[in-house]
Amino acid sequence: MGRLDGKAALITGIGGGMGREAALRFAAEGARVAGCDLNAEALEETVRLVREAGGEIVGSAPVDAGDGDAVAGWIDDAASALGGLDILYNNASIQRFGPIDELPVEDWDFAIRMELSIVFYAVRAAWKHLKRSGGVIVNIGSIAGTRGVEFMPQNAHGAAKAGVINLTQQLAVEGGPHGIRAVCISPGFIETPATRFLVEDPPPPLKATWDRIPLRRVGQPADVVSAAVFLASDEASWITGVNLVVDGGGSVLG
Ligand SMILES: NC(=O)c1ccc[n+]([C@@H]2O[C@H](COP(=O)([O-])OP(=O)(O)OC[C@H]3O[C@@H](n4cnc5c(N)ncnc54)[C@H](O)[C@@H]3O)[C@@H](O)[C@H]2O)c1
Repeated sequence: MGRLDGKAALITGIGGGMGREAALRFAAEGARVAGCDLNAEALEETVRLVREAGGEIVGSAPVDAGDGDAVAGWIDDAASALGGLDILYNNASIQRFGPIDELPVEDWDFAIRMELSIVFYAVRAAWKHLKRSGGVIVNIGSIAGTRGVEFMPQNAHGAAKAGVINLTQQLAVEGGPHGIRAVCISPGFIETPATRFLVEDPPPPLKATWDRIPLRRVGQPADVVSAAVFLASDEASWITGVNLVVDGGGSVLG
């Protein structure tokens, strides 16, 4: 028996790293999965892998989850294809980095849209479905949402992820009376296609933080998705509004 048996799960950004892992694992745990991505080729590969493993999945691409109308259309279509919506997993995001006095205003606006508004758009569209099911929202924040770092000028990224963490708390409050739960997972450094360039050639300040991680390794997509399976499942039915940090213990260091 799977831990997500009978659940209809919508996941954004299934073409890459943690989104692909989430599609595979949620389907393996018995969920009926619908996923979207900007990248049609990457999404098709995930769909193939899920089906090959015996899972149930509907894929849609290209869908830009950072476009409110596009994501609302996808959510309604996906909920109708799956016969409901129990889990909304807001995984997709695109970052923009630059020193505060050099970051173009367009990059700031882009990052806020692609990392924070992207969550609002999906939740807004999914709310009516989640009210019917008493469903759960899983948001992906970041440890960047609660602190600064030296190795990268991540002003827009950090501010947007702080917004995701706070929005999750507010969604828990607004959703509670409807039986809707909202949780956030804040990963530390995870090896994915988006971060592989840093793994291959880590800047010294980043390498120094890795060397101090109590569990002595960087994260893998499965580390985050395992937490998501638990939080999305009925095992977590009295957990809402939390921000679960998954970082090998790195953020407990002073
Ligand atoms: N990798 C890390 O170290 C790390 C750390 C903390 C938080 N995160 C967060 O985890 C999540 C997943 O990150 P990842 O490293 O797996 O990224 P990734 O780039 O490897 O994969 C993201 C996927 O989402 C898709 N996507 C991006 N924007 C989209 C949009 N607007 N509409 C539809 N699809 C879109 C991409 O095409 C890609 O397939 C992100 O929210 C990221 O901010 C990552």
